[in-house]
Order: sequence, then structure tokens, then C-alpha cells
Amino acid sequence: MEEVPVIKTESLSKRYGVLFWKKKNLSLDQLSITVPRGAVFGFLGPNGAGKTTTIKLLMDLIHPTSGSAEVLGKPVWDPSVRRRIGFLPDAPAFNGLMTASEFLNVCAKLLKMSKAERKKRVPEVLETVRMTASADDKLGGFSRGMLQRIGVAQAILNKPDLLILDEPLLGLDPYGRQELKRIIREQNKLGTTVFFSSHILADVQEICDHAAILNRGRLLCSGKLGDLLGSQGISVRLTDGDDLVRDLLPEAKECQKKGPHEWELTFEKTPDSEKRLQELKEKHAGKVEVVEQWESLEDFFFEKIEQDNGGEAGKEAKE
Ligand SMILES: Nc1ncnc2c1ncn2[C@@H]1O[C@H](COP(=O)(O)OP(=O)(O)OP(=O)(O)O)[C@@H](O)[C@H]1O
Ligand SMILES: [Mg+2]
Repeated sequence: MEEVPVIKTESLSKRYGVLFWKKKNLSLDQLSITVPRGAVFGFLGPNGAGKTTTIKLLMDLIHPTSGSAEVLGKPVWDPSVRRRIGFLPDAPAFNGLMTASEFLNVCAKLLKMSKAERKKRVPEVLETVRMTASADDKLGGFSRGMLQRIGVAQAILNKPDLLILDEPLLGLDPYGRQELKRIIREQNKLGTTVFFSSHILADVQEICDHAAILNRGRLLCSGKLGDLLGSQGISVRLTDGDDLVRDLLPEAKECQKKGPHEWELTFEKTPDSEKRLQELKEKHAGKVEVVEQWESLEDFFFEKIEQDNGGEAGKEAKE
């Protein structure tokens, strides 16, 4: 039996405004995407592409002009799915007079958690986002990154099946970004499907297995990262590999010495080279690491946007 996707939209379109105030163009134009269960899905596009509009439609915060959207196998307006989704909006507002712990308790009450559940779960999520030490501090005194962590904590309170995050990496320092990527990976390992928008393409490439690119309301591509991005070859990292490097060198495209006895060699990706390197890895466990080299998501993104803009510098869209 075919598995029900976690998110499925069909020709989903949105035009803001009513009657003669209508904007001419659709802000979202016939979007059809599928997010499979267990994916970490990066939703990409320049400013104004329609990412937040899509996310609001998925959260049933606005209504589509046409088309349909399902989450967790039900229409987005079905109340039974709401409690299974964790959501971080693009500009969350917090009551500065509440402490982190009070705020999360209110959120947990809204999720209809019992007192006993709240007592266990609130400290747990504070720990996950590494904010235990600030649990009793008022949100009004928190930095943007600290607030973002609290926003993420409320999104994972209900151990959601689906986590929808609108630009969760925005405004975070490199440590904050690392932490957030760790949290996304951890949640995903626990079985949560993650769908998030972002402009930080290197991070998306690092943690996502699927991505879609939107431009001016229209979908340019969507799918597994491995299918979207071209392979740049296979690289082999050798530890204590002075003997192996001599055998491999004649066929390698590139060879770099990484340490006293460490080497990195890159090969064309062919069925033969894949087989041979896999055998080498099995024979020399611990000494040989085989890694596929992909085109960068950033290059792929600009290529797609520039093509769609008819050759205009898509780089304008860069943050
Ligand atoms: N409430 C609104 N009323 C009218 N137009 C809107 C409204 N919200 C968004 N739009 C328009 O819809 C389009 C898509 O906006 P959206 O916020 O979805 O983009 P985005 O991809 O999230 O951009 P960003 O990367 O800047 O967050 C834009 O042209 C924007 O001007
Ligand atoms: Mg947005």
C-alpha cells in the first residue's frame, strides 16, 4: 500500500485581497508538492516567493483561492491534525512579562496537556533547546536567538508528527544554528517529519534530504536532494593510507594530502568506480571513507532562479 504523504498540496493557489483591490498576480500559483513521511524538507525561494504564504495555508491561517492541501492525510482545516503539528511562525510574538517556563506552560495548557504531563514535558523541552538555566527569566530580557529557542521549544512540546518551521535559522549566530540543526536532526530521528523554509542554503544542504524551490509563487523543482543536485564525483578519505594511495592514484581526478598519513582522492562517478571503492571500503574498514560529492545547493539555487528570471541575476535574491 502506498504511504500517505505528510504534506500534499494540489494546485494550491493564493491571491491576497478582495474584489477590485485584488493583486493582479497570484502570490502562490498552482503549487503541487508532496512531503514524504520521515523527510527533512527544505522549502526555498527568494524574498516574496510565497514560502510563508504556503506555510500559512498549511497551518490553515489563511484560505486558498483555489486548490487543496492535506497534512497527515487530512484536509488542513481538520481539527484532529492540529495537535499533531508543531509550528514556529516567521515572526513569533512573545509576552515579555512571562518567564520562559510560564510561557511554555501556557502553550502546554492550550495543547490540553495534563498538569503532570506539563510538569515533565516543559523542563524536557527547555533542556532540548539548552535553556534550562533561563527557565525562570522573563522573555522580555531574552535576545532574538534565545527567543527563537523558546519558539522551537513550544513547537516540539507536543512531540509532533510534523514540525513546520518558517525561517527557524534567521537571526541565529553560528552556535545557535548548530544547535537548531542538532534539534532538527534529533526530532527527525524520533520520527518527526520536518518542513522548514530557509535562506541559509549551506545549512539546508547539510540537514535536508528533500527540497523544493519556489520563485514568484511558482514551483521550480522539488524532490530528493540527491536527485536534484548533480554528482561531482566520489571522494575517498584514507587514514593511515600511504600504501593505498599509490594503488589509487593513477585513476584519481584529484589527490590532496590532508595530514601526515591522510589523503583525499576524488574519482569520476561510474558504476565501476563505485563498485571498486565500495569493495575497498569493506576490505579496509576504518581506514577508508567513501563520500559522494554533490553540486552545492547554492549553485543549483541560483541556476534555477536565474533561468526562471530569464537570465537576470538571481543573486539579487540572496540575503
Ligand atoms: N497579507 C498580505 N497581503 C497582500 N500580499 C501579501 C500578504 N502577505 C504576503 N503577500 C505577498 O505575497 C507574496 C509572497 O509573500 P510571502 O510572505 O509568502 O513570501 P516569502 O517567500 O515568505 O518571502 P520571505 O523570504 O521574504 O519571507 C509577496 O509578493 C507578498 O507581497
Ligand atoms: Mg517568509
